[in-house]
Amino acid sequence: MASAIIQGLINKKHYTPEEIACTSGPRGSGAKLAERLGIVYAADLAPLIKDASILVLACKPQQLDLLPPTLRAAAAQKLLISVLAGTTIAQLAKEFPGTRNIVRTMPNTPGQIGAGMTGYATATNLSPEDQQALEAILSALGKHLCVKEDQIDAVTAISGSGPAYIFEFTAAMREGGIALGLDFETANLLAIETVLGAAKLMAESDQGPEDLRNAVTSPKGTTAAALDSFSASDLRAIVAKAQAACHNRARELGRE
Ligand SMILES: NC(=O)c1ccc[n+]([C@@H]2O[C@H](COP(=O)([O-])OP(=O)(O)OC[C@H]3O[C@@H](n4cnc5c(N)ncnc54)[C@H](OP(=O)(O)O)[C@@H]3O)[C@@H](O)[C@H]2O)c1
Repeated sequence: MASAIIQGLINKKHYTPEEIACTSGPRGSGAKLAERLGIVYAADLAPLIKDASILVLACKPQQLDLLPPTLRAAAAQKLLISVLAGTTIAQLAKEFPGTRNIVRTMPNTPGQIGAGMTGYATATNLSPEDQQALEAILSALGKHLCVKEDQIDAVTAISGSGPAYIFEFTAAMREGGIALGLDFETANLLAIETVLGAAKLMAESDQGPEDLRNAVTSPKGTTAAALDSFSASDLRAIVAKAQAACHNRARELGRE
């Protein structure tokens, strides 16, 4: 997620690579990222943070307890932007005392090509400067939306984890095509281009997804046969159940 954010920031030229610094945990991902994108890597960020205005936190929620105390202390007076699923603003305020404000965000990975969707909530109203800085960062990833904090886990269940649902659905369409006799490359191309085209059509049309679906569904036709099969398996209930599982897991992560 951190690499998606940084890639977006550099692509949109909101910051130069030299203006961005990162650290990482035991797997050394930060050093590799710094080498790939030309940003600054520091095993201990605390000395660098002294002059930084904004701190973006992008470890896993379970790794929060393992962050060095120097890093926590260095967050004082900074704007803290967190992408951690499930971790509340109150928990972040306890972990990082004295920040000037905290923003809890839920971005998604299409942000790395500027096609992301981020929901965010703030601890208190942001100053105009911080609002501007936040929007510059989030707009580098794509679109963004301010929500109430108690809605963030629901945002996770749609846009945060949603790209993975679409990837899985695309792979399922590819597998279905292969089962019907197509080779991998052909089925893969057809599935990906279909998802891409349908997504663009939804984004550009003033009609909703159901209207667009109805427009391609002739009574007793081929699409109707497929949609009837979805209905028989209660596709909407399957998706809602998956989203509820995602929502519950986000809540659990905040408590672990
Ligand atoms: N994946 C998504 O689509 C998505 C969407 C929205 C939000 N999120 C949130 O984004 C966060 C990161 O997820 P991810 O999938 O990007 O996980 P990830 O690839 O495992 O990244 C976690 C990063 O945190 C670093 N880290 C771990 N312990 C650290 C420590 N003690 N000090 C400094 N850095 C440390 C890791 O470094 P090493 O690998 O080098 O140890 C790694 O670079 C999670 O909180 C998740 O809830 C993810």
